[in-house]
Amino acid sequence: MSNISHTLVLCALAAMVTPLPVAAQASLAEQQVNALEGLFGKQPGARRAQAKGLCATGYFQGNTVGRSLSSASVFSGAHIPAVVRFSVGGGNPKGSDKARSARGLAVQLTLPKGEQWQMANISAPMYFVRQPEDFVTFLQVRTPDPATGKPDPAKLKAFNEAHPETLLQAAYLAKNPVPASFAGVSYWGVNAFELINAQQQSQFARWQFVPQEGPLTFSDEELKALPDNFLADDLRQRVAHSPVVFEFKVQLAKPGDALLDPTQVWGADNIEVPAGKLVINKVSPDLSGACVAMTFNPLVTPKGIQPSKDPVLQARSAAYGISLGRRLTEANALK
Ligand code: HEM
Repeated sequence: MSNISHTLVLCALAAMVTPLPVAAQASLAEQQVNALEGLFGKQPGARRAQAKGLCATGYFQGNTVGRSLSSASVFSGAHIPAVVRFSVGGGNPKGSDKARSARGLAVQLTLPKGEQWQMANISAPMYFVRQPEDFVTFLQVRTPDPATGKPDPAKLKAFNEAHPETLLQAAYLAKNPVPASFAGVSYWGVNAFELINAQQQSQFARWQFVPQEGPLTFSDEELKALPDNFLADDLRQRVAHSPVVFEFKVQLAKPGDALLDPTQVWGADNIEVPAGKLVINKVSPDLSGACVAMTFNPLVTPKGIQPSKDPVLQARSAAYGISLGRRLTEANALK
């Protein structure tokens, strides 16, 4: 054996017994995205969560209440251009619009002076994990075991019992009707943010986009008769007729409210104030549009709106970046 090949063999043997350096281990964000792929399968070119969706555009207009709470220029009263994405929960781009999963409303606002505000909101007031690490296990215990074609019931039971808070969102979605329209359901930001006004006063808050149309729902009979795809066309038809409007409501935290736990809703007695509106006036006729080749990173906020230290909120940005990287690479390969 030559010296070179001898060295190569020794290196290969060493690699077999030496643990991988930290940099080579999957980061939490990679594990989260891998767990999504494990449950939903690899769907080339698609978002790993909220995979089915469509793009729209419009504007946001803030009001004086918004200005009193935050110095962000988004509340100036001017029309702030919005890129929007509506979506259906889960990692399957061909999933059914009848699914009892969360609908999504993602918004990017382009403010003066080069600032941006990105949000990704869901049609439930709570999230399903309070710790980003639980996101991975939550999905893994629901992933079918290849041997049985079913999730391991013992593992699922043990996880659910150890983490009862992870069942709250599914219970909420089961109790509420499947939305008949993207324009007929409320979308919550879920995580807490800190609003800082021109006097440097701070207020922790959560927000909600409330449909002007009110809740739009179907009876169980009507739902059964529907095809799996109706939400995109419904939105196109509505907006062709007149803009779809959501009120932007801010819920103010009281002392003692959970700022770091998105599985817990705040009290019904918390003050809620209308701080602006989102107006959707154009919907993409197909699956293209400005929302496709981007991600909505909730840590991108303008001056006057600060992300809280909620660990779930803090974890989102890296996972969204990984999903974006994978799907853009795949989309290029598909061309
Ligand atoms: C540890 C926590 C979380 C992880 C790991 C996670 C993971 C992901 C990933 C990988 C995507 C796809 C991103 C892309 O390809 O652009 C995504 C999208 C999304 N997530 Fe999360 N997420 C988390 C928490 C949340 C929370 C708390 C909410 C609720 C407000 C939320 C709402 C959404 C929405 C609405 C989208 C779709 C955005 C769009 O239309 O582009 N996520 N999430």
